[in-house]
Amino acid sequence: MQRTIVGIDIGNDNISASVAKVSENDFEVICSVYTPSKGLSKGKIINLNDLTVSLKKCVDEIKKESNINFTSAFIGISSSSTRLVKTKGVALSTSLNLITPTEIKEAISDAEKIELASDEVIIDAFTESFCIDDSTIVEDPLAMKASKLQANCSVIVGKSELINSYRNAFRLSGINIEGIYINNLELRKIILNEKTIKENVLIVDAGAEVIEIALYKNNELEYLSSLPVGGQNVTKDIAICLGIQEEQAEQVKQNYSENYKTLYREHSIGTLKAESLEIDIKLFKDVVESRIEEIVTLIKKDIKESGYLNEISNIYIFGNGLAMFQDVKYFFEDKMRKKTIIVTKNQLELQNSCIINSIGIVKDAYDRLKLIYEDSYDNGSNINHDNEINNKKKKSGLIRNFKRLIDDFF
Ligand SMILES: Nc1ncnc2c1ncn2[C@@H]1O[C@H](COP(=O)(O)OP(=O)(O)OP(=O)(O)O)[C@@H](O)[C@H]1O
Ligand SMILES: [Mg+2]
Repeated sequence: MQRTIVGIDIGNDNISASVAKVSENDFEVICSVYTPSKGLSKGKIINLNDLTVSLKKCVDEIKKESNINFTSAFIGISSSSTRLVKTKGVALSTSLNLITPTEIKEAISDAEKIELASDEVIIDAFTESFCIDDSTIVEDPLAMKASKLQANCSVIVGKSELINSYRNAFRLSGINIEGIYINNLELRKIILNEKTIKENVLIVDAGAEVIEIALYKNNELEYLSSLPVGGQNVTKDIAICLGIQEEQAEQVKQNYSENYKTLYREHSIGTLKAESLEIDIKLFKDVVESRIEEIVTLIKKDIKESGYLNEISNIYIFGNGLAMFQDVKYFFEDKMRKKTIIVTKNQLELQNSCIINSIGIVKDAYDRLKLIYEDSYDNGSNINHDNEINNKKKKSGLIRNFKRLIDDFF
């Protein structure tokens, strides 16, 4: 059976959407778009109407581009206002000491029985691994001989008010939400491979107003955090220090981010002409570098306080907020003392790197659905995919490409 999966990532600056055509054995991203985002600030909805209008624009554009008229989508939101709960659930096998889909479902729903405050809801839940008979960790326990199954799960809990507002915005845009994911968590679908899966990886997604941080140990999500800073802080400071409007500062930033150091070396005493503006390149460099340094210090402080700093092997930087700046990798390597890989649109041969979040969403949705295909085949039933196990991998050509590119960075 072929179907379409749509993923929509809501950023503070951009909304990106991707459409994939999938079947049991096939996954192909056929179209991605991104459009400006309005109505959000630091991952929170500040104007529902503005968000609905910008969402509708993005939905209309991807419908037109893909020529597919969809009515539902998986969405990605910021991890601000959410919390990660690591939890375990148990199921005892009934007959034959065999793990069947029934035990798997039972262990997962047991793990999802967590305490929530009155204003909280479970947004998403996924199984990281299973433990059979209190001893062996396995990825897929189906059909294994065991009397006890434990599911080790990650549950994402969020504020009901925020989630209801997202649901409203999507309803008003004519889209039914099939599942809500945390946008930067989907990035692991794109970068983690057989080699990196055994490493402790920090993924930083630096956008316009929020920096999302996720730490994986042995391919399990261990830590999730977000900081209310991003590329917008750099723009604001350029505007103040250079005495120009914010829109001009944004333009100047985007024009020179990729080569400002080289320009400084070549014209260390002097000015650059940006449209009708004369920019003091030394001042530009000083402002940019001190903001980046400050942001990297905040990231380091957050990781240090989490207690995981020493355990990290590699850092991956996504998002346009920091990744576009020349030599930004050295700020991380100097301060964090970890190998850092910057993932930019150029490396991924994308029009804009924000598209990658929506590609991650459709990939994750596909992996979860794929499990249901298999599960329905096994026991003839059809189950809700929202909170299902997430352990089967099927790479599309595009994602294989990403992984190859990421491998090449080492
Ligand atoms: N060429 C560039 N050079 C430097 N910064 C850039 C460039 N292009 C975009 N940016 C900055 O990247 C930020 C937007 O990044 P991104 O598209 O990843 O954000 P977002 O996902 O919409 O936001 P968030 O993650 O905060 O929700 C903005 O601050 C913008 O100024
Ligand atoms: Mg983002």
